[in-house]
Amino acid sequence: MTTLIRNIRQLYQVRTTSPLLRGKELSELPMMENAWVLVEDGIISGYGRMEELPPGLGSMKDQVDAAGGAVLPAWCDSHTHIVFEGSREAEFVDKIRGLSYAEIAARGGGILQSAKRLNEASEDSLFNQAWARLEEVSKMGTGAIEIKSGYGLTVEGELKMLRVIKKLKERSNLEIRATFLGAHTYPLEYREDHAGYIRLIREEMLPVIAAEKLADYIDVFCEDGFFSPEETEEICRAGMAVGLKPKIHANQMNMSGGTQVGVKLGAVSVDHLENMDEEAIQALAGSNTIGTLLPTAAFFLRVAYQPARHLIDAGAVIALASDYNPGSSPSGNMNLVVSMACIQMRMLPEEAVNAATLNGAHAMELGDKLGSITVGKKANLILTHPIPSLAYLPYAFGRPQVRGMILGSYRTEL
Ligand code: NIG
Ligand code: FE
Repeated sequence: MTTLIRNIRQLYQVRTTSPLLRGKELSELPMMENAWVLVEDGIISGYGRMEELPPGLGSMKDQVDAAGGAVLPAWCDSHTHIVFEGSREAEFVDKIRGLSYAEIAARGGGILQSAKRLNEASEDSLFNQAWARLEEVSKMGTGAIEIKSGYGLTVEGELKMLRVIKKLKERSNLEIRATFLGAHTYPLEYREDHAGYIRLIREEMLPVIAAEKLADYIDVFCEDGFFSPEETEEICRAGMAVGLKPKIHANQMNMSGGTQVGVKLGAVSVDHLENMDEEAIQALAGSNTIGTLLPTAAFFLRVAYQPARHLIDAGAVIALASDYNPGSSPSGNMNLVVSMACIQMRMLPEEAVNAATLNGAHAMELGDKLGSITVGKKANLILTHPIPSLAYLPYAFGRPQVRGMILGSYRTEL
């Protein structure tokens, strides 16, 4: 099946190569005005200017009229936890009343609360809830997503989550990457026996995950009161030994040392980064590890935003993601993520869009397949309502601007 998308007022992120964008490179977002794009069997097979539309194409049977709207690559959301049971708005109210995320966690709330509920839920119920979340975010422009385990914290619970993610991968039009986050927090019974829980991860979880190919990455919540840098390294190395590359939760609440561990291990990404000192910034900037910033999590937890300007000016590779999860970011709205990055973190619109598309794709090792308008890449595209310029996207925050989506061979009503 071949589809022509015509009358695109602005075609953003047009590239012939897919570099990892660092520092100043983030501020260049190549675009073509008044364009068409050709999609063949779900793959971008050509694009050009309407004035130069090859005569044969104009009479194609299947055409989509972009009607003066913009087209850009679908968001690549490289950090989420969308397999979870229920919601945690009672904690949200506790936080309004003054409790901190760490205090809620210490009381057995937070991640442990979600783990308790997840272990009681059936695989089908978890699948159905996560499926609804995928539908929700894909309507808002997300075309690729990373999903973590980490609300099981038992052998059965973690494997159940990863099997749900595997099933989502098999059935969804979105591109999905799976991350094993067994080291999200210590279950209560292992609070005083860290070695015991790490042994459970190494000896009972990882071998099954490797045998059933249930994950692409390994993640650890490296944070005071959670996993130390030494424990993080040990767990990541155990994952790496069975082919899982690290993507680490680092420097969210404290200068946890997680960034340096990630850089040392050659992690694909270190994520969060609300608390960064000069040493952590320089370590990241001198590496190919991607710093994934999660502004909606900082917003929701009412903490300082990630130092995006400082990181970009130091020459780091930056991605943006939603962190969609029930405790610190109950939203997977990447449009809002992009707005918040611009408004609160002073990222330029071009930087934010690059970080949420091509660099987001790289943060899932999908940079060769997604994240830009490039011949041969999967046609994961956002069609917007007409916008005057790129800056209008983050500027008109909260306004629905996605008119429809093309995700490979699938498309929404257009
Ligand atoms: O990325 N920081 C750790 N994990 C999640 C929150 C998980 C939860 O509160 O359920 C995060 O913010
Ligand atoms: Fe997270």
